[in-house]
Amino acid sequence: MKQWTPADRIVAPSLLAADFGRVAAETSRAINAGADWLHLDVMDGHFVDNISFGPALIQAVHETNDVFLDVHLMITRPDHFLPRFLSAGADLITVHVEPQADHEVPATLAAIREGHCLAGLALNPATPFEAVLPYLDQIDLLLVMTVVPGFGGQSFMAEVMPKVEKAAAYRETNKLSFHIEVDGGIDPKTSRIAATAGANVFVAGSSTFGAPDMAAAVTAIRNA
Ligand code: DX5
Ligand code: ZN
Repeated sequence: MKQWTPADRIVAPSLLAADFGRVAAETSRAINAGADWLHLDVMDGHFVDNISFGPALIQAVHETNDVFLDVHLMITRPDHFLPRFLSAGADLITVHVEPQADHEVPATLAAIREGHCLAGLALNPATPFEAVLPYLDQIDLLLVMTVVPGFGGQSFMAEVMPKVEKAAAYRETNKLSFHIEVDGGIDPKTSRIAATAGANVFVAGSSTFGAPDMAAAVTAIRNA
């Protein structure tokens, strides 16, 4: 599989915005439209106020194609469920830093890497950048949430861009190489704002699966 670097602009359509009655066809539609990664939002009804899908669906997606699977765990005790997502075929697993996720962050990140998966760490809009500082040398991706997680179709919060800028500056100063991902309200206009701040991975649900021309939308987000 291709080795992605922070110099790559990566578009990751979020399956949350797909037609759940046609998951295999929707996945193919995203791949044919030029998706680099597929973003999979796992919600447990505790960490966020919504329930989506779990490892069985991710495994089904994995079995139908070899697109890079970017799994975003919005769940409590991600450490407990981790082995199931590793065996489902995730390529990258992102866990949240907030105390409500109820896990030992460094141990979970280490367990993800031991499972031959890339490790991501996410922070919500209300969580300060300093919360992730101790872990930035232990991650492959930092996810700066650009909406309060739980639902697709919300508006991009430009006020979190200083966290993207701080992460990019810290990465440069400390010679690290984690990706910076943004998630929530991303479209060609907001992806440009996020890219200017330093993001290189763009998660987009409504603006890709909901677009009249998905390929044009993916390209526009990547080239914004
Ligand atoms: C929000 C999820 C997002 C969501 C984005 O909780 O983490 O990945 O699917 O959806 P849009 O792009 O519609 O804002
Ligand atoms: Zn997400």
